[in-house]
Amino acid sequence: MQILHSPEEVQKTTREWGGTVALVPTMGALHAGHLSLVEAAQSLADRVVVSIFVNPLQFGPTEDLDKYPRTLEQDASLLGELNVDLLFAPQAAEFYPQGFSTKVSVSGLTASLCGASRPGHFEGVTTVCLKLFQVSNADFAVFGEKDFQQLRVIEQMVDDLNLPVKIIRGAIVRETDGLAMSSRNRYLTAEQRRSAGRVPEAVAAVRRLGADAHVSDVLECARGILGEIEIDYLEVCSEADLRPEAASTALSKIPSPHFFLAVKIGQTRLIDNTPLHGVTP
Ligand code: PAJ
Repeated sequence: MQILHSPEEVQKTTREWGGTVALVPTMGALHAGHLSLVEAAQSLADRVVVSIFVNPLQFGPTEDLDKYPRTLEQDASLLGELNVDLLFAPQAAEFYPQGFSTKVSVSGLTASLCGASRPGHFEGVTTVCLKLFQVSNADFAVFGEKDFQQLRVIEQMVDDLNLPVKIIRGAIVRETDGLAMSSRNRYLTAEQRRSAGRVPEAVAAVRRLGADAHVSDVLECARGILGEIEIDYLEVCSEADLRPEAASTALSKIPSPHFFLAVKIGQTRLIDNTPLHGVTP
């Protein structure tokens, strides 16, 4: 596996490869969720590029940029074992040199959920992803459904800007108790990790509600299970527009209804989501 830090070198290398390229953008501290995306990428394209970059543009001033786990050596060895072709690990000062002044912004889909709780977050994500697509010459890019809003925002950007990259969705990979794998799970103390188990419990319970349920039933069901856990948001939205539906709306009236949740356990923010219709429990 080649490891490169310079965007120019990655652009040159991937251009010279010929054949198709699939990109898996990450912020590192890799876990089985990330690795499942790498495997999907390998089944899609001749070559696979994984990027590891803790992108300062997508962190708010009071968020965890400084303490975000950075485990590049370990990550590189995991990716090497999987025979990834190229690991791109840029330095912030080189990826965003002095004078960098462009921002890519998707409206609409970013107004709700994490977009409302984390102002500027998605602009940071779309800006870095567009750069990563350009640098890697990607024909495919794989994103996890764990960050469902991010995935929808990227799909919108790609459509709107006619980017020559196909976005592929990867299913959420979960721990044995159902907690969605996340680089942030390692912040949790043993006790916090135990109460985090309520998050997938709530997700599984709302999935079991029938199509005759209303949004209010979904929210009450989740609130009941989350108990004392601090809730950032609980919403049901249509997958197409991600606009929160009113409590009185019947799920059957919502096209592709999708449940979204963000909670805080101590200082750690956790998110999860699930489709609500036509899913087998
Ligand atoms: P990061 O949180 O490292 O996630 C990288 C990719 O892995 C994302 O597409 C995310 O949805 C996916 N992922 C994370 N946990 C997962 C899980 N349990 N199952 C399946 N996929 C999972 O998301 C980012 O980084 C950044 O915002 C990024 C897109 C790299 C831009 O900086």
